[in-house]
Order: sequence, then structure tokens, then C-alpha cells
Amino acid sequence: MDYQNIIVDTEDHISVVTVNRPDKLNALNRKTIEELHEALKSLDQDEQVRAIIITGSGTKAFVAGADIAEFSDFSAAEGKQLAAKGQRLLFDFIENLSTPVIAAINGFALGGGLELAMACHFRVASDNARMGLPEVSLGVIPGYGGTQRLPQLVGKGRAMEMIMTGGMIGTEQAHLSGLINHMVAQEQLIPLCKEIASKIIKNSPKAIASAIDAVNAGFGKKGYEKEIENFGASFGTEDFKEGTTAFLQKRKPEFTGK
Ligand code: COA
Repeated sequence: MDYQNIIVDTEDHISVVTVNRPDKLNALNRKTIEELHEALKSLDQDEQVRAIIITGSGTKAFVAGADIAEFSDFSAAEGKQLAAKGQRLLFDFIENLSTPVIAAINGFALGGGLELAMACHFRVASDNARMGLPEVSLGVIPGYGGTQRLPQLVGKGRAMEMIMTGGMIGTEQAHLSGLINHMVAQEQLIPLCKEIASKIIKNSPKAIASAIDAVNAGFGKKGYEKEIENFGASFGTEDFKEGTTAFLQKRKPEFTGK
């Protein structure tokens, strides 16, 4: 299958899926989300594919977030739909995929990019990576599962600080807090992910799929619904207009009060 914004490369039962919009730091627009969904669905159905690695093209970014230019003029209803559809097509979809999915974080993983990495079954990062959920700096909240998966991975207090400051953390801090499992030099990133994947694929695919299902069953769904609701509502605010306009105009936003 031909894709515009992603590259799929399969070798020795391991597929590497690369988000390929380097001039936009691999930001997730609608087309990329749809292509990732289609690619992951067909890889999951392919008997030959036993593990999947998701990464970003180039050396600078994994994925620098959802494509801000695409949603800056959305209404509250459209914002809600954006989150609901994205979660269904990509983020929930990856989390519940029967085939193991590893995120290879090769650079900036911000907003929807970090949410994509967190939806994967686990994460490995190169030492130049920077991770964060900057949404509140745009007047919006994380809408692709970030308010749920970040606390699951790093604990509520650390997640609250990252979400409220909107700041970025480096690989070392991400490693210490459990956000990533391993940190390596950039040229070692894909080789290490493949090495881990090659251990995984020696095991029973059926048992692995069943384990993924059981692990996921331990986490509630209610928070995701709340996130979609609040994400949509933030699109109706002046702060959202100011935050996204400021980003696109490359200036600092000026938010209203409480
Ligand atoms: N959506 C749309 N476009 C994005 C983007 C995003 N999330 N992140 C980066 N880009 C685009 C920039 O607009 C720029 O495009 P242009 O060359 O046409 O102007 C290009 O990618 C390069 O980004 P730039 O900001 O010039 O690179 P930088 O090295 O100065 O900064 C970042 C890198 C990652 C710090 C910065 O791009 C950034 O803050 N991105 C947004 C992160 C974010 O808020 N994500 C959450 C979205 S919900």
C-alpha cells in the first residue's frame, strides 16, 4: 500500500513504521492519523509481522504534536470530535493492538507525539529526545489520552507538574520517572528496539496478545471520556484562540484570567 505521510518497512517479522513529515517535525495531521490506523491494522492482520516499532523521520523529532495549523479554527464541537476520532482511530487502537508496539522516540515527542508514544506498549528514547505535554500553553488540554496515560506511567504528581507547566523533560528524567524503559545514543535507537523486538517474537503471539488485553483491562475508561469532553470545551475559549494564534504567529500568548 502507498502512503503519503508514513513509511512502513518490514524485515525479519519486525515492522518499522516511520512518521514522515520532517518539515513539520512529523506533526500528526488527519491524513497521518488515518494512514497510521490503516498501516497498523494491516500489520496486525499480517501473520508474518510479530512486532511493530513506531518512530519519526529525521534526527530532530519523533512527533512534535497534533498539527496545530489544522485545528486552530475548530469550534468546541469539532474539537470534541477531533479528540474522540483520534483516540478511536489511533491511540486506543494502538494500546489495544494484539501485536506488540514499541515507540522509538528519536527527538521531540510533544503533545500528541508524546501521547502517541504513551499509547504504544512501551518506549525507548535516544539521548537527544525531549518530551512534554505543552497543550495548556496553547489554551487547550491533552486530548489524545495524555491526561490518563501520563499519570499511569509516571504517577499523578509528576504528571500534574508536566501537564501544568507544559515543560519538556529530557531522556534521563524520563528514564528515572518510568516514562521510557531505555535510553540510548540516537544511532543505537532502532537497533536496540529491534533487539528487544527479536526477544519478544520468540514468545507465543497468542499469549502476548492475551497479556496485552489483561494488562489493559486494569485501567478504567472513564477518564478518557472526561478528557474528550474537556478538550472539546477548551476549543470554545478565548485562551484557545489566543494560544494557537500565538503559536502560528511565532509569538508568546497572552491569556485571560480564571
Ligand atoms: N503542528 C504544526 N506544525 C508544527 C508543529 C505542530 N505541532 N510543531 C512544529 N511545527 C512546524 C512549525 O510550524 C515549523 O513550520 P514552518 O517551517 O512552516 O514555520 C516547522 O514545524 C519547524 O518547527 P519550528 O518551530 O520552526 O522548530 P524549532 O526548532 O524552532 O522548535 C519545537 C521546535 C518542537 C520546540 C516547536 O516546533 C514547537 O514548540 N512545536 C509545537 C509543540 C506543541 O505545542 N505541540 C503540541 C500540539 S497539541
